[in-house]
Order: sequence, then structure tokens, then C-alpha cells
Amino acid sequence: MKNIDSDKHLRGESLYLDDLPTLQGSLHAMVFASPTAHGLLQKLELEEARKSCGVWGILTARDIPGENQIGNIIPDEPLFAEKEIHYRGQPIALILAESREAARQARQKIKVEIEEFPAVTTAEEAFEKGMFITEPRTFTMGDVDRAFAKCAHVFEGKTFTNGQEHLYLETQAAYAIPAEGDQIKIISSTQGPSQVQKAAAQVLGLPMHKIEVEVIRLGGGFGGKEDQATPWAVMAALGAQLSRRPVKLVLSRSDDLLMTGKRHPYSARFKIGLDENLKILAYEARFLQNAGAAADLSPAVAERTLFHATNSYFVKNARLSVYSCRTHLPPNTAFRGFGGPQGMFVMEAAIALAAQKLKIEARHIQQANLLQEGDRFPYGQRAEQALARKSWETAYLHYKADDLCRKAEDFNKKHEYIKKGVAFMPICFGISFTNTPMNQARALVHVYRDGSVGISTGAVEMGQGVNTKMLQVAASCFSIQPERIKIETTNTTRVANTSPSAASATSDLNGKALLKACEQIKKRLLKTAAKELKTNPQKISLQNECVLIDKKDSGLRWEELVQTALLQRVSLSETAHYATPKIRFDKKREKGRPFSYHVYGTAIITAKVDGLRGTYQIESVQIAHDFGKSMNTAIDLGQVEGGLVQGLGWMCMEELAYDKNGRLLSNALSTYKIPDLFSVPERIEVVPLEDEGHEAAILKSKAVGEPPLMYGIGAYFAILNAMRAFQSDLEPFFNAPMTPEKVLTGLLKKQVKNKPLHVEKRQIG
Ligand code: MTE
Ligand code: HPA
Ligand code: MOS
Repeated sequence: MKNIDSDKHLRGESLYLDDLPTLQGSLHAMVFASPTAHGLLQKLELEEARKSCGVWGILTARDIPGENQIGNIIPDEPLFAEKEIHYRGQPIALILAESREAARQARQKIKVEIEEFPAVTTAEEAFEKGMFITEPRTFTMGDVDRAFAKCAHVFEGKTFTNGQEHLYLETQAAYAIPAEGDQIKIISSTQGPSQVQKAAAQVLGLPMHKIEVEVIRLGGGFGGKEDQATPWAVMAALGAQLSRRPVKLVLSRSDDLLMTGKRHPYSARFKIGLDENLKILAYEARFLQNAGAAADLSPAVAERTLFHATNSYFVKNARLSVYSCRTHLPPNTAFRGFGGPQGMFVMEAAIALAAQKLKIEARHIQQANLLQEGDRFPYGQRAEQALARKSWETAYLHYKADDLCRKAEDFNKKHEYIKKGVAFMPICFGISFTNTPMNQARALVHVYRDGSVGISTGAVEMGQGVNTKMLQVAASCFSIQPERIKIETTNTTRVANTSPSAASATSDLNGKALLKACEQIKKRLLKTAAKELKTNPQKISLQNECVLIDKKDSGLRWEELVQTALLQRVSLSETAHYATPKIRFDKKREKGRPFSYHVYGTAIITAKVDGLRGTYQIESVQIAHDFGKSMNTAIDLGQVEGGLVQGLGWMCMEELAYDKNGRLLSNALSTYKIPDLFSVPERIEVVPLEDEGHEAAILKSKAVGEPPLMYGIGAYFAILNAMRAFQSDLEPFFNAPMTPEKVLTGLLKKQVKNKPLHVEKRQIG
């Protein structure tokens, strides 16, 4: 079934928040943010701005009737700065005006005096200074020190992976509308409507039931709207509460880039120990997470880094620790993979370093250590239905990996200035929110008297295709045409207390709840049909809108059945609740079974590097992916391709840059390069693993949203391998993204050392 949104998207007819007709009397809001990363607010002059043409008013922390607090995991984040300034771009005031332009002009008239203090922008510096968000976490398995003592080879190194801008096409946006009495309706572009509701209630000083949050769809979220859609929605709500007028707040691209957090940059150190047969006996890693100025989701992201720190490998002795470091950058947040990619990169770097030092190919180490059925992860869970080896072998055979590697070697022999590198990237990603209580969902189904169906769940459509999947679940349960079903907006009054649409688990959680609700209604309908047809319900089934008795058409149609049920006063509505079974995690012991299941896969990446220019092309990415029994191959393939390309961008192109004063330098698309048509791989191939699927996955179709991003990590190592082909004794460096500048300077390092020519040149210059 094709994505139900695709036609509307293509014609530009799909509604996003800012497409909604603006109600008469609406005010437009704009945020005034700190121009300084760290300091004390000494003076805020608003008078001139307040007098500016078309300004209704300007709100600050003082106008908040409830609490000036929006922190989710830890209450450490004010909505508006009061005295202390923690990052450049931190909101200080909200301008409400008759038009965006009026708000913009008023913003220029605000004057602020801040006593400036030095800013800390890197995790290392924060670590040295003891600036932390929370206590560090450590996962251990086995006896690491003893194991290292027994290793034939031990290597140590350090890594850095930079942050990443979400760059959702639709910027952060909210529209708040006052309702009767003191109630407020907020339309928000959020992945977490219930979180917006909770925070708004807290700030506005209202009970949650007075706040309704509605989400139509998102023009992309990628984790950037899991927590960070909240402040803008709450600001709009506050504006609506105080003005009793509708308030729209849509961030401009540059405000969005400036004010919102990104993927966490990580600095790490590792130590890896192998025996003679390339078995990894011991692994140790220490991760420093650059959390930014407030906790946001950082503790949860840090935790997932540890869960994925050994990737698809069985490591008998491991010690993994993570420090969430507080810096003066905007609070960093969820981003596809949620800390997992940062953990996996370090493992792959450790293997690449070992391979280089042992003068072998990394794939031999990778292959020798892939997880097998029953192997334990460092957090205690055992690998069940483990497909690490199967995905590796499938990719290896399907894409004729030996030929591929040989061809690359031949090519390298023939070419002096252009070399190819091949890398393998196995992935393993745990499905479930690592915070067990979040793994629950609800659905509400109405069958209307004409046989049409309306479905509400907590799922937010952000381009990942969850609405199509929900529709498929209902259509298959009732065996009716998709056209009969409407997926309603996501709304807190219809489905309450929802977890955000995140962790790749949205269709599993909401789909399972939806299936339960549909099955309840179906059961009642079958009973009604049996009564009507004077037979027993076991003999009745539904197929293609017909009621069957013993698999033969009874003549009764879906619509008639629904009508009959209504006349017999049978309920045609149902709500259901789903909580993922069999998961638990003990944070004291750092052991448990946090994940419902794992998703596996292997990618083979081929890169071609120009050694004179440092430029490169990702020639091909060939993937064997574990979809389970995909319920929608077009959508799932789209997720694999999109995730991959986003991962490639993170690893190769997107260079987030802050200066030492915490000023964002990569503050436009001219300086922050994301993958475009010319930089995506020439060839992307995906082959599904032959697989039964998993019971815990919706209709056995495994979660697919985040895992493919991590295939992109392989590109870093493919480029590094091509560089190795230029210089067999290259000193590998692990400093992502691998931009052409880094390729070139990486290759030049040795030439500068060995060739006096360069020194002479420099003297001449
Ligand atoms: N795909 C599109 N097109 N847009 C998005 O914003 N978000 C990703 C992924 N794929 C995203 C996407 C992220 S971060 C997650 S967690 C999942 O989708 C969320 O949706 P799911 O749980 O339905 O997979
Ligand atoms: N993944 C994604 N988002 C989350 C998680 C998680 O494990 N926990 C809280 N938010
Ligand atoms: Mo995705 S990072 O879990 O929103």
C-alpha cells in the first residue's frame, strides 16, 4: 500500500501548522534571545520595543503565572532566562505583535546588558571543570582488567563525533488558541503532545485537562521535536492566556538554528584488547557527552550510548562509562539513534585502529566477533533471534563482497591519485524506550454507522509513514477498504498521557494498542453477525467487506453488519491500552532486559577518494537489512534510504561549528552542508533478510525508523580505508565528520614530514 500522504505531499495539499488559516485577531510571536553564551542579565530595556508599531506586549519570566520551568527529566530549564544566562540563543522575552514584521522590528529595539563570563563549549573542558548534568553511568560485564592482562594485542585511542543539526523542513512552530473560560488549545509541531500539555499546564498554572494539544503532522522531527517543540508551544500558550487572543509562533530558520539543540557531540577514549584469533577479549570506553546548558533528554541519550557501545559484537569483558557534561551551548537533544550512533562509532574506531596496527582488514575483526544467539550484552540482556551473523553473511554473499574488495584493490593498483576503500558496517539497535514506563500506548476507534472508521492513537506522523501503517492495521483487522478509514489528528483529549513518537517504537506501541481496540469491536461484530445469520460466532469471519460463514459468502456486507450492530445497541467504539511485555531494567545494577527486540543489518560501503584534492564520492552502499516481515516495503525502504543518507551527512559533511564564545558559526545552509542529490551515493541497494519477523513487532514488521542511520558510520571507515590505500602506514584519526579538508590534511601529514619539498615551498611562500 502506498503512503496515504504521498499524493497530497506531491501536490502541496498536505496541511502543516503554518498552512492553517490564521484566525482573525491572531497575534504573531517572536523570541528575543540572549546574544551571549554565559553571564548575568543586568538590564533589559523593553520600553522602546513596547512602543513599537503593532506591538501588543512583551512577555518575560515575570509574566508567568505558574512555574518558569520546562525541564522534563530534570527540572533545570527555565522557559525564559531570569538572571543567569546559560547559552547564546536562550529565550529571554517574547514579543507579541499584530504581524511577524511588526514583531521583528520591535525585537531590534530591545536592549540588553549582560555581564559576560567565559563560556565552556567542549565536553572535555566541562569534564575538567567538573560541570555535569547528572552522575556518570557505568555498565560493566566480566573482569576487564584481568582480561586486558591476557590480551595478545591492546590498542588505545580517542575519538570525536560532532553534533548534527536536525534540519527538519518545517521549523519549530505552535499556534495557541484561547477557548472558553481559561482553557487553551495548542496546535503544535511536536513529537510529544502530552509533554507539551504537561509543560504548558505547569507554566500557565492550570490543570492539564484545561489544555488540549493537537498535532496534524510534522514536516520532519528526527528527534528535534521530541522535547524541543515544547518551549515554543508553551510560549504561544502563555501569550494566548495573557492576551486572550490566538498566538502563532513559527521560528524562522535562523532562529531555529540558533535557539535549538542538536545531536550531542561526543569525545571518547577507548581501549580494546584482542587475542591471537582476533577475538575481542576486553573493551573499555569513556564517553564525554556535550549536553549543552540543560538536561533536556541528555541523561536518556547518554544511557543509550552505553546500550549500543559494543554494537553488533559480543564482548565478554566490557567497562563502559558516560559523563553528561554541562556546557554553554543550547541544550542538545534527541536525534535519530539517540546516542546509539555515538557509541557505535567508538567501537568501530577501536576495531579500525586494531586492524591498521595489525596490518589486516577491519572486516576480519568484525566478522570474528559478531553476536551469536544467546550472547549477553553488557547490560545483561541476551541476544535472541540474533541476526548479526545472518545479516553479515547475507550482505557478503548477496553483494559478492570478496569480488568487491578485490576489484577495489585492483583499482588501487592501477590508480595513483584516486583510491577506493571498502568498509563493512554491521548494526544492532535495541527497540523500546530505555525508560521502561514509557513503553505504553493507547488507541481509540470509532466505527460510524455508514461503515466508515475513525482512528486516534498517540502516534505523530512526521514523514515516517506511521499513519499509513496504522491504517493498514485497522484495514487488515476489519478486512475493509483503506478508503473507509480515516486517521485522525493526534490529540490529547482523545488519547491521553502518550509517550512521544520516538525510539522507532511508534508503530509497534500504537499499532498494538490499535489492533487490540479493533479486535474488540470485531469480536462484537462477529457475534452480531452470528446472531443475525443464526449460526455461531466461531464460523463467522470478515473478508473484503463481506461476512463469511465457514469461509463462504453469507451475503451480509460490512455496511449492513455495522448498521445491524447499531440497531441492536452494540457499541461500535473502543479504546485499548498496550504495554510492551517482558521488558525491565534495574538502574542500580545496570542490568535487565530493556529491549523488546533488536534490529540488525550490515552495510557494505565503497568510497572513492581523490588524494590530490581530498574530495570523495560514496560510490555504493549495499545493505542487508532486518525488516522482519515488512508490512510496507515502500515506506520501510524509504526509511532505510533516508536514515542512511542522514547518517552519511553526519559522518562526512555536516560540520557543526561553534566558536569559543558559544556562537554558532555554521548558522546557515551556506556553511552547514547537508547531503544533496550530488553527494548521495551513486548506488544504494537494499536486500531484506529472509525472516519470520518478531512477535513484539506490529504485524511482525520490525521498527525501522532509526537503525539505518547507523549504516552511515561505515562511510567514515570506507574513506579511511581509501586513505590507507594511499599510505599503508597512515596514522588513523577518528574525528567526524570526515570532510574533504580532513582527508587532505590527513594525507598531507606524512608528506610534510617526509618531503623537504614542502618545507622549501613554505619558505618561498
Ligand atoms: N522519517 C521521516 N521522514 N521524518 C522524521 O522526522 N524521524 C526518525 C525516524 N524516521 C523521522 C523519520 C526518528 S528520530 C524516529 S525515532 C522515528 O522515525 C520515529 O517514528 P517511528 O517510531 O514511527 O519509527
Ligand atoms: N529513545 C528515544 N527517545 C527517548 C528514549 C529512547 O530510548 N527515551 C526517552 N526518549
Ligand atoms: Mo527519535 S531520536 O527517537 O525521535
